[in-house]
Amino acid sequence: MVNPEMAEVKGKLENRVAIVTGGNSGIGRGIALALAKEGASVAIGDIVDTPREGGKDTASVIRDNGGKAIFVKTDVSDEKSVENLVESAVKELGSLDIMVNNAGITLMKSALDTSGDEFLNVLSVNVKGAFLGSKYALKHMVRAQKGKIINLASNFSYNALPNLSAYVTSKTAVLGLTRALAVEYAPVGINVNAICPGATKTEFTRPFWGNKEGLSELKSRTPLMKNGEFLVKPEDLGKLAVFLASDDSDMITGEGILVDAGWSAM
Ligand SMILES: NC(=O)c1ccc[n+]([C@@H]2O[C@H](COP(=O)([O-])OP(=O)(O)OC[C@H]3O[C@@H](n4cnc5c(N)ncnc54)[C@H](O)[C@@H]3O)[C@@H](O)[C@H]2O)c1
Repeated sequence: MVNPEMAEVKGKLENRVAIVTGGNSGIGRGIALALAKEGASVAIGDIVDTPREGGKDTASVIRDNGGKAIFVKTDVSDEKSVENLVESAVKELGSLDIMVNNAGITLMKSALDTSGDEFLNVLSVNVKGAFLGSKYALKHMVRAQKGKIINLASNFSYNALPNLSAYVTSKTAVLGLTRALAVEYAPVGINVNAICPGATKTEFTRPFWGNKEGLSELKSRTPLMKNGEFLVKPEDLGKLAVFLASDDSDMITGEGILVDAGWSAM
């Protein structure tokens, strides 16, 4: 007889529905695939319909492998567009349990060369986008009295480098937003946490790892070596997203969890 404590092992996210913004490329793609592998149905909300790094779009890859997924063209800085993403996911996939606010952009410029509009544009995607994604997800989660919101912050929520003032400001704000929403919606059982990646190998960071000087600069700041690699991979962040999306993290909220191979420890 099967011991009930060892009952059938299934994916951790069977029957759950997730949205991943910016889910067609890089970290968002890694997270969407990891959630789907654990059984979640996934709605990808992205401004582009093909990955920045090339290949098939994420929803097609999930469907090709037997999972359930849709793509909804979305600009996270536009309120109507985010509302449409959330409502489409609920209508086509049945509910909303997990919201991953991942879409983000950067700007590499000195503060003196950054215009006010350029500064606001970064905040508009990275901060307003995470706020809007959370707001429309919360509408459903509050009704269900459960839900997991995961925001993509950064090691730059805690530290900085030159020429990243707009980006560093935005990622610090994402951590503040995470704490604010965690406290506000804790009484109805909703968890809000942030993943804070360090240098992760995606198109976003190609200007660094794509040339010899940039790569050695990153290496000098990253102590942890694993099988000769020091850059974080989207799959590493997918594993943390699965944990934060699952019941395993039920008593964790308002946290920013660093996955930076020791960058911030130096
Ligand atoms: N790569 C890193 O080293 C790193 C480190 C820390 C944090 N992050 C954060 O992780 C997130 C993902 O980064 P990445 O490296 O995968 O970047 P990426 O550029 O590879 O992918 C970002 C995705 O977001 C989408 N996107 C951009 N603007 C959008 C908008 N307005 N609406 C909808 N989608 C939009 C892009 O089309 C793309 O598919 C970002 O929030 C980034 O700030 C990245």
